[in-house]
Amino acid sequence: MSFEVFNVVRGLHILAVVAWMAGMLFLPRLYAYDAEQSGKAEPLKSEMQGLLRIWQRRLLKIIINPSMAATWVFGVWMILIHVYGFGEGWGFVARPWMATKLLAVVALSGWHGFLSGEFRRIQAGTSVRSGRFWRMTNEIPFLIAVVAVLSVTTEWTLG
Ligand code: HEM
Repeated sequence: MSFEVFNVVRGLHILAVVAWMAGMLFLPRLYAYDAEQSGKAEPLKSEMQGLLRIWQRRLLKIIINPSMAATWVFGVWMILIHVYGFGEGWGFVARPWMATKLLAVVALSGWHGFLSGEFRRIQAGTSVRSGRFWRMTNEIPFLIAVVAVLSVTTEWTLG
């Protein structure tokens, strides 16, 4: 495995991360607009919610889900290059910065799972979340991303 392949995979990983994050930062905003239609009169309410739910579906299925899969594929690929290609062994994933990074991406994936569950509830009309809830939690993925990015850029270690 050459060093150049690693750099191409690293670039593709970053591009996939950009798309995943963009989608996860925008989807809760569509959920907020959707929740805030509940006090509106018909037929505007149904028309708006119908449109918002199409946008939610497209964003989740076309952008967010595939870019999460691509982020994982390229990320795991780089781990395998470190372990086998660079001969660093599985101790690589136990390095403090890499372990922190992995905890952060598991948390981000969990947030993704929560948004997917809410998508199904919103489509079924059974969601109980308010617009305020979505506005207050909107920055959660960004805060987790700060941990994920700084752990790889600093490669921090103990002592
Ligand atoms: C989903 C599972 C993920 C895995 C398995 C993974 C794994 C990795 C690995 C092994 C590297 C190479 C580190 C190096 O050799 O320096 C890397 C680089 C990187 N990752 Fe991830 N990553 C994942 C998700 C993410 C997420 C969610 C973000 C941001 C929110 C992110 C941001 C970055 C950045 C910015 C780099 C490049 C750092 C550099 O060029 O030094 N990754 N990732």
